[in-house]
Formats: sequence, structure tokens, C-alpha cells
Amino acid sequence: MDHPPKTPPQDEPENVASGWTPESWRDRPTLQQPAYSDHPRVEEVFGELQRLPPLVTSWEIEALRGQLAEAARGERFLLQGGDCAERFDECNPEYITAKLKILLQMSLVLVHGGGRRITRVGRFAGQYAKPRSSDDEVRDGVSLPSYRGDNVNDTEFTAEARVPDPTRLLRGHEHSALTLNFIRALIDGGFADLHHPEYWDLDFVAHSPLRGEYERMVEAIGDSLRFMETVVGAQAGQINRVDFFTSHEALLLMYESAMTRTVPRRSGWWNLGTHMPWLGVRTGDPDGGHVEFLRGIRNPLGIKVGPTSDLDQLVRVLDVLDPHDEPGRITLIHRFGASQVSSFLPGLLARIKETGRTVLYSCDPMHGNTETVQLAKGPNAGLRMKTRKFSHILAELEQSFEIHRRVGTILGGVHFELTGDRVTECTGGARGLSDEDLADSYRSHVDPRLNYEQSLEMAMLIAARMVKG
Ligand code: PEP
Ligand code: CO
Repeated sequence: MDHPPKTPPQDEPENVASGWTPESWRDRPTLQQPAYSDHPRVEEVFGELQRLPPLVTSWEIEALRGQLAEAARGERFLLQGGDCAERFDECNPEYITAKLKILLQMSLVLVHGGGRRITRVGRFAGQYAKPRSSDDEVRDGVSLPSYRGDNVNDTEFTAEARVPDPTRLLRGHEHSALTLNFIRALIDGGFADLHHPEYWDLDFVAHSPLRGEYERMVEAIGDSLRFMETVVGAQAGQINRVDFFTSHEALLLMYESAMTRTVPRRSGWWNLGTHMPWLGVRTGDPDGGHVEFLRGIRNPLGIKVGPTSDLDQLVRVLDVLDPHDEPGRITLIHRFGASQVSSFLPGLLARIKETGRTVLYSCDPMHGNTETVQLAKGPNAGLRMKTRKFSHILAELEQSFEIHRRVGTILGGVHFELTGDRVTECTGGARGLSDEDLADSYRSHVDPRLNYEQSLEMAMLIAARMVKG
């Protein structure tokens, strides 16, 4: 990642929002918080978290903000991705390496396509809390509190597992730290062999009608990397150490505010629990606790925008969160769905243009394309599963690129739910996964993710789209 600044910036009083404290959100209506019963324990955990070391630094956060400002100007491209929800029991070396590997490989493919530098931001090292549409889950007539992420409760469908337990916030902090520590070690080690397409798992390419195009692309990436290594006389990983940033939804405000700190020789408050927190669609009320909390921190912020988002409210949220129209501060992550993007995106772009603001636009083609299917045949016939179609995900992306081009704005990023593993949660892609295949290796307890092959293929298709301009 980056290094501390040599000359600390002067104190800038406008960096401290008026009337704000890390806990001022407590006076606002705050949705999606766990219904804890043991309040003294919650406050005890809050105090403990406040005393624990932070996970990231303010200079890394500033470096990311600078890169996002470049992406907003079309000089870079943001690749954000990872699990819908991380799990404590998936905090292991194989899983973390696989996730890093797919994000790095996708980014190399995207560099090839767009000729722009890529900023990699993982949905990792803290993506442990989920907003839910319903407080309860009903199975066979039994109603229990919904699973809200490992930071809150457990997935098992028992009364005991579903009780929100504040102590889990401490486990969340530890698992985030363990994950990030391993990621930093892998990056410091150069991660070199992963740069070489000859080590990529490309079996799926053979199943695609675009096989020739994919093979030429992979060959060109390999050639470029070898050329660079020969010229510079070093491994690609050492020439320009790749960096990865972290992000998660800023949902559990007890946790987020405990990780919010001041730092020596810099003004303002920083959420040092992640580089880039984002505001979800369910918690975007301009007068609510989440917006109140986010307005006071210096981190770059993501804001999800969907078909249910009210544009007047969004503009108010932008006024609150980004009063100085600071470059890199706001990334609007639109997620309308393939069937609705053409009705909603032009209106969003026009409205933001009217405000005169500069934001970075990124497309999340996952959350507007979730559907439930009932398996018709096979050993799991009758089972209902949440899924997403590869073709719908791609269609939303393609339409988004096209709409931005028409309007004269820049689509500067993409946001995926993906994993480096061989899960079967989304259908389609070169291997043509069908609904019946879903039950083979479906591991997500929340949203369905693209698997390794589907993610790499998606990157190749976006790269091909970028080449066309
Ligand atoms: C998510 O990113 O997992 C999520 C819940 O998204 P959204 O707020 O866009 O529904
Ligand atoms: Co999700």
C-alpha cells in the first residue's frame, strides 16, 4: 500500500464537520441495527473496540481517494469485488489467496482492455454485516431473527444461533485484522507468479464460442508482462507493487464509530476499520444515523443507488456527505438491474449533472439482478434458490457503458459479488451452468456470487467492450 506523507498537511478546520462526533448518529433514527438485549455488554464491547489498533491508515485512505478522483476523470478504473458476506470460518489462507488471485487476474485483463490503471478494492477484511429486507426468517412455520452477518449472529436456523451477540463484533475485528495481515504479506511477497497467465486456470475458455478471442487476449497479456520484465529486468510484481484496498458496507454503527479515530498531524476523523465504507440502499435516509455518521469521516464513500432510491433524497445526501464537492470523495454505485437500467440510469445521470458535482460512477450489476428459482428436476427438485444469470449481469454492464457514453459521463468502475472458488451460485457463463447445477456447490447464505471462471470471463467481456470504446 502507500507510505506516510513526508510533510504533514496543515490543519484544515473544514475537515471537521460541525456538530458531529463519532457518536452523534446515536441521536438519529438508525435502521438495520441488531436488536441486542444485553446493553451493558454492547457498551463494554464498544469500549474494547475503541482501544484496539486500527486496521488501515489515513495515508492509505488518502491514496485511495486520490485514485478514485483519477477514476472519476477517466484516468483509472475501479474494480471492487468480493463476497456478499464474508464468513469467520472462511478466514483461511486458501480462500483469501483465491479471492486475491481472481481480483488481480481480472484487473490485468481490464488493464489490457481499457489501457487505464486499475484500482483494486476488495469487499473484504470487514464485510461481516448484512442489511436484511425482513427482520425474521420463517421456515416450516417457525419464525426466527434473520441472519445479519457473522458480526451479528450465526447462520444456523436455531433460536440460540440467531440471537445477536455483541461479542461477535470483537471476533469481526480480529478476523478482519487476520485477513488484512495475510493480504499485506502476500502483496509484500510480490505475488509474482499470479501475474502470469500460464498459471491461470483457463479450462473454461474451451467451452466458449469466443474461445479464439479469449486466447488471444490471454496471450497478449502474457506477452506484455514478459516484455516489461525483460525491459526492466525485474518481476512484474516488483516493478509496481500492486495495491489492494478494503471496503465494506458501513452498517453496524457501533462498530464503525469505535473504529473512527483522529491521527497525529492530520485534521479530521478517519474510519480506520476500512479504506472505503459504503452506504447501502436500505440506509440512505438523509436524516438517518448512517448518513449522520458518514458525514464526519474523511474516507472516500460509496453510495448505492437503486430503483427505489429517491433522487431528491440522494441530492440531499450528497450535500450532507460532500459539501465541498471534493475529488474522489463520492463513488455512486448504481444497481438498477438489466431490465430497469435503461429507465433509471439516464435520470440519475441527468440529475447529478444538474448539481454540477463530479462523482465517480461505478456499476454493481449484481444486486438488481437477483432472482429466485425453484429447481424443476434432479435430486433437489422443489428447492428454491437465490441466483443471478450471467447474461443479465453482463447486459446491465453493457447497457450502463452505452448509456454513460451517450450522456457524456464516464463509467469508471464495476462492483461484483464474486469468489475465487468453484461455487455454483450464478447460472450461465462459458460452462453454461443451469438452475439444476446450483445445488452442487452453493455456499452463500446471502447473495449468489460469480465463481472463479465466471468472474474471469466477465472481466474478459468487459475488456473486449472497453477496447471497442
Ligand atoms: C450488498 O452490496 O451486499 C448490498 C446489500 O447491496 P445494496 O445495498 O445495493 O442492496
Ligand atoms: Co449482496
